[in-house]
Amino acid sequence: MKKNGLRIMCILCCAAAVLSCAGKKSRYEAIQAEKKLVLGTCADYPPYEFHTQKDGQDTIVGFDVEIARAIAKDLGAELIIRDMDFDGLLAALVSGSVDMVLAGMTPTDERRQNVDFTDIYYTAEQGIIIRKSDAETYGASAASLKDTLIGAQRGTIQVGIAKKEIKGVSDADAEKPHTQIKELPKLPDLIMELKSGKIDAIIVELPVAENYVAVHRDLMLASYTFKDAEGGSAAAVKKGEAQLLAAVNKSISALQASGQINRFAAAAIESVEQ
Ligand code: ARG
Repeated sequence: MKKNGLRIMCILCCAAAVLSCAGKKSRYEAIQAEKKLVLGTCADYPPYEFHTQKDGQDTIVGFDVEIARAIAKDLGAELIIRDMDFDGLLAALVSGSVDMVLAGMTPTDERRQNVDFTDIYYTAEQGIIIRKSDAETYGASAASLKDTLIGAQRGTIQVGIAKKEIKGVSDADAEKPHTQIKELPKLPDLIMELKSGKIDAIIVELPVAENYVAVHRDLMLASYTFKDAEGGSAAAVKKGEAQLLAAVNKSISALQASGQINRFAAAAIESVEQ
């Protein structure tokens, strides 16, 4: 009798150990349990996400942040923001140091190999920033930029657009390390390079370009834009986290249906363009 009891205890303990090991929590369950949702972003992208002073404190704001806050609220979690270089965001998702990325990120096939994307929540064209003093030279046609040094944020789709659509680099050569495009991790550093004449143009999402030229009076927008063939911004989560992906998608489509995303965007655009 005693022996049997012991044996049952032992079996139960083993079963519990196996279960707790095999039943590793999904990200969705972990977020619900910890009541924390960690957002990865790159806050150099007004009006999507940017730094501002709020009550004397450095704060990250923008419409991506508002969307992320609404998602966190739907999940019953507090939003925690981690700011990093754009080209580090996907690795942060894969390693699990963030739960979700919103960073004006375009879902591409290449990125889809490593992470899952929600539906698109915002679309924009690509704009070109140049110096006002170059209005005549580069302002009117993209062809005028063919032999210039163009800047783009490292790891962004803009690098590819500049190579293919402005420089005319063939598809086969587009992925090769190329010296023709100047890639830097942060947008403000590209702005400095443009102001000081080290590069002649920057390609970036149009709403962002509009913001930077509103602040930097020596810079302007070229009159032409590029369509974003790949189609706009989406949120990303770690691959295979189906429940989290579904929850984020649900929040996003509710925000879209109620017109809230457009209101967030309009408010963010207004708040940065003084
Ligand atoms: N949409 C572009 C891409 O996905 C650029 C996004 C840059 N975002 C940022 N927060 N700096 O590649």
